[in-house]
Amino acid sequence: MSEFSTAQVHAGEARDAAHGARVTPIYLTAGFEFDSFAQAEGRFGGGEAGYTYSRSGNPTTAALERRVAALEGGREAIAVGSGQAALTVALLGLVQAGDHILSAQNVYSGTRGLFENGLRRLGIQLEFVDDPADLAEWRRRIRPNTRVLFGESIANPGTDILDIAGVADVAHEHGIPFVVDNTLATPYLLRPGDFGADIVVHSASKYLGGHGSTLGGVVVDQGSYDWSTSPFAHLTGPDEWLEGASYVQVHGAAAYTAFSRSVVASLFGPVLSPMNAFLIQQGVETLSLRVQRQSDTALAVARWLETQPEITRVDYAGLESHPSHPLAQRYLPRGQGAVLGFRLAGGAAAAERFYDAVDLFSRMTHVGDVRSLILHPASTTHAHLPAEVREETGIGGGLLRLSIGLEDVDDLIADLARGIAAVVAADVTVPDVTVPDVTAPDVTVPDVTVPDAVGAGR
Ligand SMILES: Cc1ncc(COP(=O)(O)O)c(C=O)c1O
Repeated sequence: MSEFSTAQVHAGEARDAAHGARVTPIYLTAGFEFDSFAQAEGRFGGGEAGYTYSRSGNPTTAALERRVAALEGGREAIAVGSGQAALTVALLGLVQAGDHILSAQNVYSGTRGLFENGLRRLGIQLEFVDDPADLAEWRRRIRPNTRVLFGESIANPGTDILDIAGVADVAHEHGIPFVVDNTLATPYLLRPGDFGADIVVHSASKYLGGHGSTLGGVVVDQGSYDWSTSPFAHLTGPDEWLEGASYVQVHGAAAYTAFSRSVVASLFGPVLSPMNAFLIQQGVETLSLRVQRQSDTALAVARWLETQPEITRVDYAGLESHPSHPLAQRYLPRGQGAVLGFRLAGGAAAAERFYDAVDLFSRMTHVGDVRSLILHPASTTHAHLPAEVREETGIGGGLLRLSIGLEDVDDLIADLARGIAAVVAADVTVPDVTVPDVTAPDVTVPDVTVPDAVGAGR
């Protein structure tokens, strides 16, 4: 199925032979009954196709897996209970104690937390590339035990665009798989596998589901990496469960997904409920329509924000002023996504006024919803990080992040104008030394002229 919009409503669907239900049914069952002793034995060890228990596979979940794999142009997918679970399964399917992961520094704060608090405790080494746009730095930081290169196609919240083809080349020069979190771009805007990513990860809680009702995550093996010649001994070496054969011998090109499904996802157990798989699949069916509209609105909002004197900088790769704009033109020609950040000259005090003044934007930590959302990262998602790490990753006190939904653009701009008006009314258009900022404003404060009134048209 070649065209995206056709694939998003048809790819991988499970037709219901028994009753003819047109929509993939919700198989809300813990387990599956066996016809006989022989069938039970065959499904567990004998290589017979069929389901056993929903922790290791379920028809509703499998339909979602096939659909997302098709949309990403991948060979196979594993759906799990959240984006964090997807990252965990994707990485623990590859690394073990003593291995090294090299990641872009500008990744989502939860991913950074997983690396630093979760994986590091398991003896996995982590290192961050300070300037993810610098391919020489990626190359320089690879160690003999580096087993994964990792980055986000559109970084959350800075919206820097990853040079996927460039980093993929560096990874492959060293025989290392390249894992990309494609949550903010979605396969509608960008398919990292087309540019050399080997494994693509999603928080399906965001745009794939789209309605903000459900958590989920997906890992897609693009089928580009040759597991048979890889340095991953758990895939190429003898395995007790496989009676001494290796995952590569038994599963061939599916070695990584077979291991990640049966050992990591199934035994660590971050299962996706079939109910949630159904809801995410409902969302996927309108993905292209939502993401196109949300990207178009985000660009209009970003352009408006850029004209506001109280704002020193707008982070949105669709803007010509963003350092990633040339990469956005190459990788994201249809649109640059619907997450953007902007910095108020008045720092944290101004951000607080703005945040409390908006009415239409929901104050919450989430992105990719049909509703527009606003977040103050420095005091919430990034509050636990040391100030120097926040500074390094561009999370100043004046930064607010928006996730643009499906509302009318004029209503959104009118709401943001309410935020600007509150900043102006409180006279926090420049840094206020009496109000402690979460971090010092990270940009030079321009000459600000305070307008008398702020309207949606400005
Ligand atoms: C880029 C990115 N990856 C992963 C996650 C984690 O996803 P979840 O909240 O579904 O666990 C998020 C959540 O915001 C995210 O923005």
